[in-house]
Amino acid sequence: MKKQFKGIALLIAVMVFSIVATACGSSNGSGGAGGSVSVGVVLPTKDEPRWVQDEQRFKDALAGTNYKTEILFSQGSSAKEKENVETLLNKGIKVLIICPQDGDAAAAAVEAAKKDGVTVIAYDRLITNTDAVDYYVTFDSLAVGAAQGQYLIDHMEGTSGQPLYLYAGAATDNNAFLFFQGAWEVLQPKIADGTFKIANSSEAEKLKDTKDLSRDQMSSIIGQVTTNWDPNEAKNKAQTHLTAAAADMKGNVSILAPNDGTARNIADVFGSDSEITSYVITGQDAEQASIQYIIDGKQSMTVFKDVRTLVKDAMGMAVEVLDGKSPETTGSYNNGTADIKAKQTDVIVVDKDNVKKELIDSEYYKASDFTGL
Ligand code: BGC
Repeated sequence: MKKQFKGIALLIAVMVFSIVATACGSSNGSGGAGGSVSVGVVLPTKDEPRWVQDEQRFKDALAGTNYKTEILFSQGSSAKEKENVETLLNKGIKVLIICPQDGDAAAAAVEAAKKDGVTVIAYDRLITNTDAVDYYVTFDSLAVGAAQGQYLIDHMEGTSGQPLYLYAGAATDNNAFLFFQGAWEVLQPKIADGTFKIANSSEAEKLKDTKDLSRDQMSSIIGQVTTNWDPNEAKNKAQTHLTAAAADMKGNVSILAPNDGTARNIADVFGSDSEITSYVITGQDAEQASIQYIIDGKQSMTVFKDVRTLVKDAMGMAVEVLDGKSPETTGSYNNGTADIKAKQTDVIVVDKDNVKKELIDSEYYKASDFTGL
C-alpha cells in the first residue's frame, strides 16, 4: 500500500517535472550564456566530492530538458556565495536553490534575492536567522546522526567501557548540530551507563548525563571536536587525540565521524596506530571513495543520502513555483526566526552487507567503479 503510494507519487513528480520543464525555457540544462536564467543553483564547494555529486545529479536531471538553470560554487566563501547570488539575480532568476556555506552568513544573500522577488529554496543546509527563506529541501539529518550512533552501539567489539571518539561537522552548518544531536540522543544512555567512555571531549564528558542538549551545550562539544568538514583538520585532530590518549583509551574503539570525507582520514590515523586493536567508524554521503573503504574494511558504514531525490525535489519545487503553484511540503524547520516549510527525504544505512543492493542495484554507482565488490 505504502509502496504503491510512493510509486504513484514518483510518477506524478516525474510527469510534472517533464511537462513544466519543457514549457519553461529555451536553453539547455546547465545554461548560462546569454538570455535569462530561470533557476539559479548555488553549492558550497567543489573541493568536497559530496557537492560535485550534487552538481552531477542536477546536470543529469536537467539533461534533455529545455530548462534554463545555472550552477555556481562558492568555494567555501560566504563573500563568493553572495557574489554568486548577485550574478544570478542579474541574470533574472526567479528561483534560487542554495546550499549555504555558512547558515547565518547566507542570510544577507537570500535577503537580497527576496528583495528581487525571487523564491528561495534552501538546499540540504538550512539558512538560519532570517525570514527570507521560502522552502527547505533536506534529508532527515537527525536520522543520519541517529543511524550513526545506533551503528556504533550495534557493532561495538566489547561490551562495556569502550572508548568513544567523537567528531563533528562545522559549527557554521546547522546540519552539524542535527547530526550530532541525532547521534547523541542515541549514544548518551550508553555513555551514562558506562558502555562507552568518552575519549576526546571534556565538554561531552561533563554533559554525559544530559540527553537533551541545548544548542549552547552542543556548541561547547562541537567546539572541541569539530572537523570544520575539513578532512585535513579531521586527520590532525585524530592524531592529536591518539597522541594524548592513555592506554585505556586504546584497544577496541568506536568513532563517531560525521561524514565520509572526514571518516576516511580519521580511519587512516586510527588504522595506523599499533595500539588500536579494532575500530568501528561511521560516515555519511556514500562517497565513491568511502564505498571502496567499506568494501576494503577500512570504514564501517556510511549513510546513503540519495542526492537524486533531493535534486528532484528541489527542481520539482522550483518548477511548481515558476508555474504559479504552491509546492507540497511535508513539515517545517524553525531556523531561529521563522518556520520554514520543508520537504524531507529518508536516508539509508549502508555497510558491506547491503552495499551492492543499495548502491549498485539502485544504479547509483556502477559495479565497475569498485574493486573487490
Ligand atoms: C551535508 C553533508 C556533507 C557536509 C560537508 C552537510 O551539510 O549534509 O552531506 O558531508 O555538509 O559538506
